[in-house]
Amino acid sequence: MDVLVVFESCFSNTQRIAESVADGLKGQGAGVTLLEAAERIWPLEGVDLLVAGAPVHHRGLPNRLSRALAATQGATPKAFGLAEWLEGMPQWQGGQAATFDCARGNTFVHGSALAPIARRLQRRGVPVVSDARFLVGVMEGPALPEHLDQARQWGAELAAQGGKTGETAQFWIPLSQKPNSPHGSAGPR
Ligand SMILES: Cc1cc2nc3c(=O)[nH]c(=O)nc-3n(C[C@H](O)[C@H](O)[C@H](O)COP(=O)(O)O)c2cc1C
Repeated sequence: MDVLVVFESCFSNTQRIAESVADGLKGQGAGVTLLEAAERIWPLEGVDLLVAGAPVHHRGLPNRLSRALAATQGATPKAFGLAEWLEGMPQWQGGQAATFDCARGNTFVHGSALAPIARRLQRRGVPVVSDARFLVGVMEGPALPEHLDQARQWGAELAAQGGKTGETAQFWIPLSQKPNSPHGSAGPR
């Protein structure tokens, strides 16, 4: 199976998750290309599965304004992100997609980027067969080794099951499990 993993990331949490998903896919023998959306290329030829992921901004996908806000908080966002990449996507037939997002997830309503990503894919006739949420607990991260293990595991499941992993997978590690966490414990459920 040939897989394109495309991501956007401001504080690098989503990037590290994407890299681990790619590792999990590769571990099961998939051919994987890892791509940051900002590269503005669409190497979809021969791809069986597109895996697209982004951070949650304001309960949805990052946009120009939210990225500018992230920059004021110490992030290094690129001007061209996943929303723009999906909007610019050429006609692509025969493949399917899996989506993931990465959120702080410690507010009562933390929202999701999954639906806006899926809408853009479905408008282009691309079926979304699997999705996952990674809740990392703090704005700037870093994503913990446990999150990266979960991302690897999800990638391995995607490869083993030809992209279909069933219900939305939700990966959440309560902050109380983080050794010496300065942030205290909190969780969405
Ligand atoms: C402008 C902005 C808006 C955000 N909005 C949300 C939100 O609505 N819900 C949430 O859980 N996290 C929100 N976050 C937190 C990010 O989703 C979280 O920090 C994520 O790990 C960032 O991923 P990244 O490191 O790949 O940028 C927001 C962050 C920024 C910068």
